[in-house]
Order: sequence, then structure tokens, then C-alpha cells
Amino acid sequence: MTERTRFDLSTADLPTAWFNIVPDMVGAGMHPLPPLHPGTREPVSPDMLAPLFPPALIEQEMTGEQWVDIPGEVLDIYRLWRPTSLFRAARLERALETPARIYFKYEGSSPAGSHKPNTAIAQAFYNKQAGVRRMSTETGAGQWGSSLAMACRFFDLECLVFMVKASFEQKPYRRVFMETFGAEVRPSPSSTTEAGKKILEAHPDSTGSLGIAISEAIEVAATNEDTNYSIGSCLSHVLLHQTVVGLEAQAQMEMAGDRPDVVVGCVGGGSNYAGLAYPFMAGKLRGDTPDMRFLATEPAACPTLTKGRFAYDFGDTAQMTPLLPMYTLGHDFVPAPVHAGGLRYHGDSPTLSLLVRDGFMEAVAYTQNEIFEAAVLFAHTQGIVPAPESAHAIRGAIDEAIAAREAGQERVVLLGLSGHGNFDMQAYDDYLNHRLPEVEFDDRDLVASMASVPDVPIA
Ligand SMILES: Cc1ncc(COP(=O)(O)O)c(C=O)c1O
Repeated sequence: MTERTRFDLSTADLPTAWFNIVPDMVGAGMHPLPPLHPGTREPVSPDMLAPLFPPALIEQEMTGEQWVDIPGEVLDIYRLWRPTSLFRAARLERALETPARIYFKYEGSSPAGSHKPNTAIAQAFYNKQAGVRRMSTETGAGQWGSSLAMACRFFDLECLVFMVKASFEQKPYRRVFMETFGAEVRPSPSSTTEAGKKILEAHPDSTGSLGIAISEAIEVAATNEDTNYSIGSCLSHVLLHQTVVGLEAQAQMEMAGDRPDVVVGCVGGGSNYAGLAYPFMAGKLRGDTPDMRFLATEPAACPTLTKGRFAYDFGDTAQMTPLLPMYTLGHDFVPAPVHAGGLRYHGDSPTLSLLVRDGFMEAVAYTQNEIFEAAVLFAHTQGIVPAPESAHAIRGAIDEAIAAREAGQERVVLLGLSGHGNFDMQAYDDYLNHRLPEVEFDDRDLVASMASVPDVPIA
């Protein structure tokens, strides 16, 4: 009998509500901490967020409800590519000679090439509904900017993208992709905002960071009545929208007749990994699947979860956002320009950070050459050239499969493959021609960048 390697749902099986993990965290005795106003240090109230976000998204950011209905207009667009496939990576398993069974949920089949449209479509919809004319945002790898550019076009909104300069230079075709949908793209730091100008004065050669690009995008939204800000990761409403991924994966793992022993993903701000992991995490928090493991992967050049500190810090460099309780390397930290641009963020989602701090999730960091070696093996066996960000998760899954082989154990690995790398050919060229430096984090940088973290007590 031929082995089944692909598990597809029909469009009728598309989830109709997003899943919120917070009630399960509370049920397990955890206490998600509120974001704080940077001046008063009081919990942020909805009206403080109103200059940036529409009411529906503010409500979703703070909701304690377990399920949030997905609007019909959003579902109609999701159906252009959702449900996405779950695959069994049988050819990779054979190459590794492992008794492990590796499944991957592939989000690279979306029009923009990653999981990012799952929230871009929802955010554009709610902003249009609230009468907004233009969206401003940041992008690291270009995947998020591409997704929001497409979503804004669908809902007839203008779109302004601040693209981290390192990526702007490494990935010109991502810029053209965004421009094809009518977006305006500026390299960040730019001289078009006060935040950008300040950085350029101090560091004229700055390669930028997500923290800086966020400051520029927020400044435009805060100073223009007709413009709202949109964020591609980290905040709770973004993670919520991504849970369609995990809800589908749960149904598909049932079709496969398997249950994951370990769920692996890459973490920039946490959205693709939380989207896949949280529906499964609920089982662990409820005590139904206490042995299920969760493994977050990140770059050694920006090791937020493995070397950062759990503290209240700003989400951006210019200190415009509320203080978020999260693992951080300090909001001043500018990571080395590694190719996984979407993982170069100093902070992480507050809920995901808490799950790591309280021991429900493990984290591991890899260098560039380690992840590209895994990416090329994946391409050779499964045919997909992964995004450098997603290659971190592949490295994690391969290491789990090798550990299973060495222990002579079966192990079911569920891997989140967040995007394809078809726009990342410069990165692959650098790897194949041995031009990739093994960028390691210098602990002395941490001491300097952590000095900027405000001194706010944390429970
Ligand atoms: C393909 C891909 N994966 C992962 C990420 C990391 O973001 P997040 O942690 O929000 O999923 C990005 C960010 O740009 C990305 O483009």
C-alpha cells in the first residue's frame, strides 16, 4: 500500500472562529500581565490604543473569550488558499534514517508565500470597517509587508511600508512585490520620520531593525488622522488570527491518526508558532496531554528567548509603544544583519514569553550555517526551498528526529513551515558559496542593550 503523505481539508472545513489561549493560561494558574502605559505605568486602557488600532482589534487584543468569530468577508478571502496542506515528510525521514514521523504544516502556499496573510486580511478588514484610509507598517523579511500590501489592495486601502534597510538591500524583489500591489516602500531608518532621523544622526550606516521600523510606522499613524498602524507579529490579536493554522493542523493530525509528541516552530515575534502551537498547548494546560513538548527556535544572532530577560520593555526603539511583559534583548538592540530578517526582533509575544518562562515551552538558538544546512536537506528531499526563518524550525525538527534515532524511539514531530524562500536566493547563494559568517551573539552587547530596559518590577 502506498504511504499517505498529504492530508487535505476541504474549504467547508475551514475554521469559522479563532482560538484564544488566555482562558487556558488563566485556568492553569498563570497570570498574563497587562501592557503598561510608559508614562503612568498603569495598565493600558482601550482608548489609549485608539489612535493606532480600530475598536474590533483593540477588543481582540484584550479579550478573555475563548473563541472569536471570523467575519464572512475574511473567510471568503481565506478560501483563496486555505485550508493549507499538512504533509508527512517521509522522504526527509528516510534520508535521516529516523524512526520519527515528521509532519509539516505548510503556510508557503499562501499568495504572499507565508502565514502572514492570515492576520493581514483580518486587520485590513477591520480597519476598512472603521473608515480608515491608509495603513502604515514595518517589515523585516518582506513577507509581512507583502501580505499587508495585498490585503490593503483587496480592501481598497493605501499601504505604507517601512522595510528594514538590511532586507531592503538583500531582497529588492520583495519591494517590487509590495509595489505591484500599490504599496509605498521606504528603507528604514528613513529620513522621513523623526524617529528615523534620530537614528541616522547617531548611526548614519544603520542597517535598521524591526524595532526602528516599528517606531517609524507608529509615528506616521499617530500623526496622521486618516492612517492606522498595523503590526505583523507579537501582539495578542495577531497571534489570535494565526490560530487558523493550528486548528486546521489538529483536524489534519487526526486524519493522519497521529498525535504530536513535539510541536516545533520558529519565533520572530511569535505569531506563526503560536498560531500552530496554541490549539495543541490548550491540551497541555488543561492536563490532557501533559507530555506534549513545544520547541521554539530562534537565531543565535538574536537569541531573545534563550538569552534575553523576562521584563517590561518597549516594543520599538523610539519608546512609542506601551511597555510589554516579554523576553527582550533591550529595545535598543540592533541584531547583526543575518538573512532571517523576520526573526531579527528584540522582543517576543507576551503570552509566548510567559509560556517559556513558566516551563511549558522550550527554546533553542541556531547559527546561520546550521539552519541553511537543514534548509538544503529539506529542499533536496521534499522539494520546497524554505524561508530562512522557517529553516530554524526545520533544524529543530531534524534534531528531534536525530535524537529519536539515537534513542531508538518513535517520536511524532509536528513542524510549522511558515513560508517559502523563493525571494531569498541571495541568502542561498551566500550559503552555497560559503560566504555566510557564523554570527554569534556577543554577551557584552546584551549588557549594553539591557541597560535601556526600564526598571519596572515584574511579578
Ligand atoms: C516566513 C516567516 N516565518 C516566520 C517569521 C517570524 O515571525 P513570527 O514569529 O511572527 O511568525 C517571519 C517574519 O517575517 C516570516 O516571514
